[in-house]
Amino acid sequence: MSVESEKVIIFDTTLRDGEQSPGATMTIEEKLDVARQLARLNVDVIEAGFPAASPGDLAAVRQIAVELEGPIVCGLARTVAGDIDRCWEAVRNAARPRIHTFIGTSDIHLEHKLRMTREQALRTARDMVAYARSLCVDVEFSPEDAGRADPEYLYQVLEAVIESGATTLNIPDTTGYCMPDEFGALIKGIRENVRGIDKCIISVHCHNDLGVATANSLMAVRQGARQVECTVNGIGERAGNAALEEIVMALRTRPSEFGCHTDVVTEQIHFTSQMVSRYTNFRIQPNKAIVGANAFAHESGIHQAGVLRNRMTYEIMTPESVGLGQSTLVLGKHSGRNAFRAHVAALGYELTDAQADQVFARFKELSDKKKVVGDADIEVLIEDELYHPEEIYRLEQVQITCGDHSIPTATVRLSGPDGEMQDADLGTGPVDAVYRAINRIVQEKNELIEFTVQSVTEGIDAVGRVIIRIQAEVPSSDGGTRVRVYSGRGADTDILVASAKAYITALNKLLAARRQPSNTGKAPAVTG
Ligand code: KIV
Ligand code: ZN
Repeated sequence: MSVESEKVIIFDTTLRDGEQSPGATMTIEEKLDVARQLARLNVDVIEAGFPAASPGDLAAVRQIAVELEGPIVCGLARTVAGDIDRCWEAVRNAARPRIHTFIGTSDIHLEHKLRMTREQALRTARDMVAYARSLCVDVEFSPEDAGRADPEYLYQVLEAVIESGATTLNIPDTTGYCMPDEFGALIKGIRENVRGIDKCIISVHCHNDLGVATANSLMAVRQGARQVECTVNGIGERAGNAALEEIVMALRTRPSEFGCHTDVVTEQIHFTSQMVSRYTNFRIQPNKAIVGANAFAHESGIHQAGVLRNRMTYEIMTPESVGLGQSTLVLGKHSGRNAFRAHVAALGYELTDAQADQVFARFKELSDKKKVVGDADIEVLIEDELYHPEEIYRLEQVQITCGDHSIPTATVRLSGPDGEMQDADLGTGPVDAVYRAINRIVQEKNELIEFTVQSVTEGIDAVGRVIIRIQAEVPSSDGGTRVRVYSGRGADTDILVASAKAYITALNKLLAARRQPSNTGKAPAVTG
């Protein structure tokens, strides 16, 4: 890194904007785990949630704030005193708290969402930033939909909030509308025309509706932005947000282009990406930059020959730099407990003795069926054994008969709040039969909206992973009901067993939500 290199602050919003995407809901435990991992990744700011959205969000942000020591912990709030109070309540015990408050600034938001004049919105922004600043020294302000706002008006709003004490000014392209040169020009205009801007950090927050969120963010860095808001794997509202791994690796791979660096420990990228995918049940597309399964794979003969001679022929960064390919041991049926634990630790998992024993038992079962057990198999075993939401029901046994001349029939045995129960049903196919049999026991109305089967590794003996999403009505905080999506995943060499496990995981999330309505009903979505 050259002496002149300037630091770009990495503001991670996986737990707020990322978690806002339909079906990405995480439990508090999962959010805490992601927050701890983000701290290992060494991001500068974690936006941990939107505390006014629900008591559950507030509790999650508060726990993250209390526990984490390194990064700034930030909460989101509308420019409404009640939101700001709840945000402060959630982050105040953090070692370094931040309040992030926002209001729409494009005419379309003012007229149709807020029903406010430009003057009213400006006054609200100014007053609420001052209020937030009376509570917290670190206040970030976002003029929502800045990408479609009138720049002259934007300058006025930004000047007003600087006078009120905002320390970071975040410019969101909320709808992913801007093109890179346009967005770069917007940042340049702000830098040149807003009085007092030199006292603040300029931040950017780009959505990916036209596929240019990373390009827009990088253009903004060129024009002086020194904070980038992003999410792991680029998850987020609609087409998502700028992907953290893309921003960080672009700055690291092309230092002379930007003259900037981040403090992210890039070797933690792969592990973080896998964790977020696991908890949200959002698969990563194989060709996804940096974290896709094929991002460092070379298929064609010409490419392979080149890479064998010199990796730089087709690789602009090493797999090791993002945390891939560090373990060289191959595990099989004769591998012992210690070799297994060392391998799991090299993959980045910190397991207790009891957890290691539990996963080792599964590994032994698998290695009886499969000659070579790869890293992908081990990761799937760990997630299947250890990463469950609260287990209200547990699958004890499932038995299925099916075939071209028989009626698919399933018998399941579950342990649940009333002890062990078993039931059976017929279905149009074996998965349908399993789900119907489970429904007879659990009796929670829902609709299956997604069912995906995936093979974890190649070969006939591969472990299958099933991801499902169910949709159901749950009570909302306003006393009514709202439809929410819950995901589940299961893994096994038998995909019908994996399907049953996936369904039970999703049902457990739904049941937890129905039992604690105040902890799960989100406030109306107010932002991207
Ligand atoms: O997309 C957006 O405008 C947001 C703001 C709250 C920063 O998420
Ligand atoms: Zn957003």
